[in-house]
Amino acid sequence: MSERATSRFGRRSTAEQVSEGVDLSGRHAVVTGANTGIGYETARVLALRGASVTLACRDIAKAEAARQRILRESDGRIDVAALHLLRLDLGHLASVRTAASELLASGRPLHLLINNAGVMLPDRRETSDGFEAHVGINHLGHFLLTSLLLPRLRESAPARVVAVSSEALHFATLTPELHDLDWTERRFSGWRSYGDSKLMNVLFARELSRRLEGEGIVAHALHPGIVRTELARDQRWPMRIVGLLMLPALKSPQRGAATTVYAATASELGTSGGGYFSDCAPAKAGTRADDLELAARLWARSEELTGSGV
Ligand SMILES: NC(=O)c1ccc[n+]([C@@H]2O[C@H](COP(=O)([O-])OP(=O)(O)OC[C@H]3O[C@@H](n4cnc5c(N)ncnc54)[C@H](OP(=O)(O)O)[C@@H]3O)[C@@H](O)[C@H]2O)c1
Repeated sequence: MSERATSRFGRRSTAEQVSEGVDLSGRHAVVTGANTGIGYETARVLALRGASVTLACRDIAKAEAARQRILRESDGRIDVAALHLLRLDLGHLASVRTAASELLASGRPLHLLINNAGVMLPDRRETSDGFEAHVGINHLGHFLLTSLLLPRLRESAPARVVAVSSEALHFATLTPELHDLDWTERRFSGWRSYGDSKLMNVLFARELSRRLEGEGIVAHALHPGIVRTELARDQRWPMRIVGLLMLPALKSPQRGAATTVYAATASELGTSGGGYFSDCAPAKAGTRADDLELAARLWARSEELTGSGV
């Protein structure tokens, strides 16, 4: 991404403000985890700007409730036909494959893929495929989804892929050899494991951009800020109390979705990818996130683990 890229927006900007004047008519966006939090607001604002949006959620009843809420909040500015529902459980690779097949079979183009869904867990859990849950859901599920949708992204170019990461990437423990991604040989730390998955989100966006250079598809990653959402729902009481004390300082979901919508739609970002943003402006993700060899190794390992081979 251009080093000179600057932004008129900041911490207090909302997703509606950063997309003021943006016309997404004729564009189709897929937002994972669109039923609540940052994903909901991202989907709502992309639809408000004219995109047709697929709400890709693990619970289809929650997805339908989100669709109804978007329609209620839009005062007639969004048509029900612009909002599609897709069942997607990122913790179950068979579900990811089914969801990708359904999307491809729908014939819809794909201009914006927003890899937003995520979990933040206090204890070690496994996905139904046996991966540690942060790595499995936050990274591998999105890796496979994106890989399977690449042909449609290519046909639809120009297109953008946006990975919702986190500053928690600074707590990551990833080694150059990607040792023990499943946390079976070390004492588990929820925070560090979450950090690993969020570093993977940035490395994935960087490697994806590198691989697709010149094809009209760019990928960016971002930190949304600390946002008032349901993300801490699985945390234990001490952590939840810290969260409650921090409440007044947290961003609203409207502000929390701003950096995602900025990375997905801002024309000033040009045609080169691999950017990392915070508060709607370019930011530094740290040396490990800049490690292109690590990004390439993670890509190869993710292909092995998901059996994707793009
Ligand atoms: N909130 C923050 O302060 C903050 C800070 C930095 C980064 N982030 C990142 O922002 C993203 C959005 O989080 P949020 O804060 O909006 O949290 P949230 O309110 O808890 O929303 C998370 C979304 O992910 C979905 N999800 C969880 N597991 C899934 C699975 N296996 N398959 C498909 N969808 C799944 C959830 O669906 P259900 O409702 O059905 O569970 C929900 O829609 C995450 O990637 C998170 O890491 C958030």
